[in-house]
Amino acid sequence: MYDTSELTLEEKASLTSGGGFWTTASVGRAGVPSITVADGPHGVRLQAGEADHLAIAESLPATCFPPAVALGSSWDPDLAERVGAALGTEASAMGVSVLLGPGVNIKRSPLCGRNFEYLAEDPVVSGALGAALVRGIQSKGVGASLKHFAANNQETDRLRVSSDVDPRTLREIYLRAFERVVKDAAPWTVMASYNRINGVYASENRWLLTEVLREEWGFDGLVMSDWGAVSDRVGGVRAGLDLEMPASGGRTDARIVQAIRDGLLGEDELDAVTRRVLDLVERATAADRPSAPGIDQEAHHALAREAAARSIVLLKNDEGLLPLRRDADVAVIGEFARTPRFQGGGSSQVNPTKIDAPLDAIRAAAAGKVSFAPGFTLDGSADDARLRDEAVAAAAYAEVVVLFLGLPVTEESEGFDRTHLNLPAVQLELVDAVRAVNPRTVVVLSNGGVVVLPFAEDVAAIVEGWLLGQAGGSAVADVLYGSVNPSGRLAETIPWRLEDSPSFGNFPGELQHVRYGEGMFVGYRGYDARDSSVAYPFGHGLSYTTFSHDDLRVVAAGNGDLEVTVNVTNTGSVAGREVVQVYTSLRHSIVQRPPRELKGFALASLEPGETRAVTVTVRRRDLAYWDVRVDRWVLEPGTYRIEVGASSRDIRLSTDVDLAGERVEVELSLESGSDEILADPIAGPLFLEALVEHGMATDDQALRVLGMFPIGRMDGFPLPHDTAVELIARYRAAKNAGAPTPTPA
Ligand code: BGC
Repeated sequence: MYDTSELTLEEKASLTSGGGFWTTASVGRAGVPSITVADGPHGVRLQAGEADHLAIAESLPATCFPPAVALGSSWDPDLAERVGAALGTEASAMGVSVLLGPGVNIKRSPLCGRNFEYLAEDPVVSGALGAALVRGIQSKGVGASLKHFAANNQETDRLRVSSDVDPRTLREIYLRAFERVVKDAAPWTVMASYNRINGVYASENRWLLTEVLREEWGFDGLVMSDWGAVSDRVGGVRAGLDLEMPASGGRTDARIVQAIRDGLLGEDELDAVTRRVLDLVERATAADRPSAPGIDQEAHHALAREAAARSIVLLKNDEGLLPLRRDADVAVIGEFARTPRFQGGGSSQVNPTKIDAPLDAIRAAAAGKVSFAPGFTLDGSADDARLRDEAVAAAAYAEVVVLFLGLPVTEESEGFDRTHLNLPAVQLELVDAVRAVNPRTVVVLSNGGVVVLPFAEDVAAIVEGWLLGQAGGSAVADVLYGSVNPSGRLAETIPWRLEDSPSFGNFPGELQHVRYGEGMFVGYRGYDARDSSVAYPFGHGLSYTTFSHDDLRVVAAGNGDLEVTVNVTNTGSVAGREVVQVYTSLRHSIVQRPPRELKGFALASLEPGETRAVTVTVRRRDLAYWDVRVDRWVLEPGTYRIEVGASSRDIRLSTDVDLAGERVEVELSLESGSDEILADPIAGPLFLEALVEHGMATDDQALRVLGMFPIGRMDGFPLPHDTAVELIARYRAAKNAGAPTPTPA
């Protein structure tokens, strides 16, 4: 147990910034060792030689598991926990104490250049999978770093931009996944993001790092900065930023010391953050880890393959074209089949232990003839027309075409946002030429952020392969040939056009501000509210079998959660996994609400003909809204609609549930609107009486017109000022006396 009282002021300050690029500082005299951290999130990126934080220098080989865009589409927390455990094992074996992930930022816009590192456009999916990853990583005695806290939803100007978000949206959308992970999985560390939130840098934001994270959510770990995020270190200490990363060369440590000497910062404030750095070091050094755990690379590769196969989303499959017959003659087209894109660029980029190319895996799985034509180059360096003609010739003679399309590496990365959602023109021309000669065309996509699919109605099948990690090539073959029945579901909507996306026009902002103008209406919440047609909705994903849902029942548990149960039957002829999705809504709410919001989900693996009762827990807290009048969560009383669906636009069953909830009592004043006064059981009757007394109409239309008028604003309309003052006084007196309803005079 290290003690801050044994350290000098300078030593304490030195511990609150990195010792190096990937290490905490040590204090040899006091026996405080340094510990190592490494990216994250889908593999260990440990740089042995020259270090940087954007993966410019190479790192030691490690398993490249499916990036979050893929794993998020598995909707499978158990799988995520197993991947997390494997990440923990590798980190531990490589001497890493904290793995810098997972990232649970919401995919606010499909243009965010880093969407491949994030799990979903919905906080329940992000929170559930994020918590599972943290549990898995930490089960191996390695800490996780939950990032990027918070409202870091774009790359444009990410080190300076202010995410201007209203408090309710912040709580219900952008903080919700973080809250769930902190409460359910207790990450060792949280990483404060680069950006500002409503004008205040995350790494200097006391409200965020101390009031919300620690005091409200009970977080007891360490908060570190993102790499280079700190602009005011002393402000950061005050706010509760424990560790600045990476090393500041002593510059900011000296500022802390000076601030204490000048009386601008209390030594107790420094002690608090130093204590938490020491706690982390203690936790890491005491962690129960096998002394020299070996990494079973083959087993981890197999897990990466399983996870990738479970993450693939079958978007379309006309006339059961998939799975392919093993003896079918197949033309494989597209350079991505030979040179797969399996992860995104930037700090998360892992140096894989090996790479499975889809083409090799298809050749291994197929019993028929497999021909290949690249169709295009990844860097546009060859004669497109010639490559297209070659591909068309191969397609014309094959029974089935498997066409690999995707985003080139130059189009998406950490560090910049995308400007459009299109696949390269050369690929779109290719798909048209190929399907013209062979309608039995299956498109397989490789992309970290969503792309629009102008050919969606014209090809027979579409497999969304995202970025699947190092074993993705084999996983694609597993799904194409049916050794794995696809069960992935979209964790983000695929729109027809960028212009339809709810944040369009408010992304990526300008002049260092981005306005979250769509508010709560992010992703499917927004598409549904506007009733816009989408290419493939949130939650969508086909299987080689079919499922039916019956007998929806809802029971309230003792703690107020709802247990939503439905019988699911596999009505097809092969075993498969269904993701049961539960959405809720409340009509006639006092706050704006999306038409439906995901509140829980569960997976069921079913043999053909099998029926199983599947229960999804909807947390009471997730039904609440953030009330800005009282700054807390409130469960509004009313009739809630509970919907069970196979996607957000394929609702199979629904029922209504009455919840008692709580009406927030707001103290009335002269600033209260006439409608608020009328709704109050004490003031309402007094108000009506006063209106009559002053000759004002009280029919519905008149009251509607008066509706929003604060009663004390104008003398004479709707009431003389003195009458309004008296009314409020009588209301207060009656309330203080505890009288339920005063008798009108
Ligand atoms: C990224 C973080 C990453 C860190 C260290 C930053 O640029 O935003 O996600 O963990 O670098 O590489």
